[in-house]
Amino acid sequence: MVSSTLRQTLRKELRLKRQSLSPTEQQKAAQQVYNQLQLLPQITQASHVACYLPNDGEVSLTPFIDFCWQAAATEAHPTLSLPVLHPVCKGHLLFLQYHAKTQMNNNTFGIPEPVLRCPDVIPTRQHHVILMPLVGFDSQGNRLGMGGGFYDRTLASIHDYRVRPLLVGIAHDCQQVASLPIQRWDVPLDAIVTPTRVLPFTSQFK
Ligand SMILES: Nc1ncnc2c1ncn2[C@@H]1O[C@H](COP(=O)(O)OP(=O)(O)OP(=O)(O)O)[C@@H](O)[C@H]1O
Ligand SMILES: [Mg+2]
Repeated sequence: MVSSTLRQTLRKELRLKRQSLSPTEQQKAAQQVYNQLQLLPQITQASHVACYLPNDGEVSLTPFIDFCWQAAATEAHPTLSLPVLHPVCKGHLLFLQYHAKTQMNNNTFGIPEPVLRCPDVIPTRQHHVILMPLVGFDSQGNRLGMGGGFYDRTLASIHDYRVRPLLVGIAHDCQQVASLPIQRWDVPLDAIVTPTRVLPFTSQFK
């Protein structure tokens, strides 16, 4: 099977798997991923962390987001951001600050995102960690997304930065495959966090 067809077939299969998880299983996965994140100094000591809001059966980061918002009043905590579809550079993302009172709008995919206000933009390279949703992953740290190429375009030059954000994929265990058919533009991950495991791929996580 040619790579693009295989990628589409895998997307379909893996999306069905995560969509079929029950609300109870989703809630448990969200809590377990939160527990894993809390054990990682790369996350807890980061000052800027990009999150996402769950769509299509992705693992929810709500427990982590709630923790960061509650900790905001009392102690050092990561400032959170969410991806927003770039209004000018089509196919790219911008990251905007996300706090409890952020005004939200649904984007063209029906995913809530912060209303675009220039002062709220956090430059991509200013993040310490970018938590990324994914459809599939393998044991080499390769990532298959929903097929829009948004993260790939936005992070295409990330390895040229002197200091760069760590890229951490968040996934259900059932989203792992033996080997992903990757393309030259796919940006690999530094680590993947699932409800049961942290898979480290680069020295920052080993
Ligand atoms: N750096 C890039 N520059 C230009 N086009 C790109 C780039 N990265 C990806 N694309 C385009 O985006 C399309 C989708 O890419 P891909 O299938 O890897 O998406 P994905 O990784 O599943 O999505 P996402 O990055 O949003 O999670 C491809 O057809 C590819 O041509
Ligand atoms: Mg890709």
